[in-house]
Amino acid sequence: MSNSPRGHEPPIKRRALLRRIVNGFSLVGLGLLAYPFVRHWVPAWQSEGSREVDLSELKQGETLSVSWLGREVKILKRSAAQLQALSKGTQALKDPASAASNQPSFATGRLRAEREDFFVFYAECTHLGCAVSVDADHEAPIYCPCHQSTFDAAGRVTKGSAATANLDVPNYRHVSANAILLLEPESETRVRS
Ligand code: FES
Repeated sequence: MSNSPRGHEPPIKRRALLRRIVNGFSLVGLGLLAYPFVRHWVPAWQSEGSREVDLSELKQGETLSVSWLGREVKILKRSAAQLQALSKGTQALKDPASAASNQPSFATGRLRAEREDFFVFYAECTHLGCAVSVDADHEAPIYCPCHQSTFDAAGRVTKGSAATANLDVPNYRHVSANAILLLEPESETRVRS
């Protein structure tokens, strides 16, 4: 039988209740604090329809790979030599104007990119879909190990390659000096001559 006056909680019960309330608030606070970090490190939690990629660690000639919409996307930080090679003649290229290749409307020029220093592209070879690699020391630095197709630093396929189209470019935007936002492909367009 309780000694507490009717209508009053015993002190032990009150303490337990208070402890539960404090613990509940602590958990909610921890969750709120952790959310931005978890969201940053788990891509699937990033907002649907976009993925931010940090490029601050990338040096000239280096490439970064990320997964986007179930495909591999590579980002090449073009070196001065690679940019210079892109200004040379186009006689060695199959589709220099990207007339029969896939890219967003902002990437139809010679550089096939929003900014000249970064080239963002899908890593699947346009011949039979093998994953392409990057070798910064070559004038055509992107190559496919399956049937030796080669591509320049704008993903344009060279003559003599088994591939006929330039590498696909995803839809994206630069959102700061060293970050891009990969976007849904709704605005990707095929440019026809
Ligand atoms: Fe790349 Fe054949 S799959 S050259």
